[in-house]
Amino acid sequence: MAEIRPPIALAASILDADLGNLANAVRRVERAGADRVHLDVMDGHFVPNLTFGARTIRALRPRTRLPFDAHLMIANPGQYVAEFIAAGCDSITVHVEIDEPIEPTLRAIHRAGRRAGLALKPGTSLDMLAAYRGLFEIVLVMTVEPGFGGQSFMSDAAGKIAAVRELPGLPDQLEIQVDGGINDRTARTVGELGVDVLIVGSALFRPGRPMAPELNRIRAAGEAGRVG
Ligand code: DX5
Ligand code: ZN
Repeated sequence: MAEIRPPIALAASILDADLGNLANAVRRVERAGADRVHLDVMDGHFVPNLTFGARTIRALRPRTRLPFDAHLMIANPGQYVAEFIAAGCDSITVHVEIDEPIEPTLRAIHRAGRRAGLALKPGTSLDMLAAYRGLFEIVLVMTVEPGFGGQSFMSDAAGKIAAVRELPGLPDQLEIQVDGGINDRTARTVGELGVDVLIVGSALFRPGRPMAPELNRIRAAGEAGRVG
């Protein structure tokens, strides 16, 4: 019997929103039909940029009913994970390339009843996931170098999307997210590769362009890719 998979989900990254009015940004993406809010946390060490932290996320939590996915591009998530849990994140994804032990952080996320994810930079091998089998249910495949919105999609890195599902010992309900350069063209490519969640930033926040039609086009392109 063919596997039944839920429809492709769209997570709106607010990195390229008006940072002076984030409450409006999360309401806008909800109204436009996004399924989740994707929150890019950067520390200026793991990536050469700074964004916001758990306090900002906590302040945004009551402003929308959408689930919150935190993408921690930080060198030491172990020190802060409790704060992101308390801020109301539904899932928390950390990078597999960091130097500190990752397992305690993944366990802390699970103890709090949230979903845990591992993110891979474009050049990082899927072999890095093996050590954490059983400790995560999300893999986030980056198709740009982390740090900034608005970069071009790296198709070589996207190849990992199809390869993840072939890895032994991963959960049946594994969710594969793609992050970086997703628009109404690249969504089709990653849909074909079997992605579950499209993370979309700058393509949604284009000045003067209504968000809902853009979001619908991207989602439709992803679904079209999935069915072939
Ligand atoms: C980049 C972030 C992304 C970014 C995506 O480091 O992780 O989530 O906001 O933005 P676009 O869609 O413009 O590549
Ligand atoms: Zn991200």
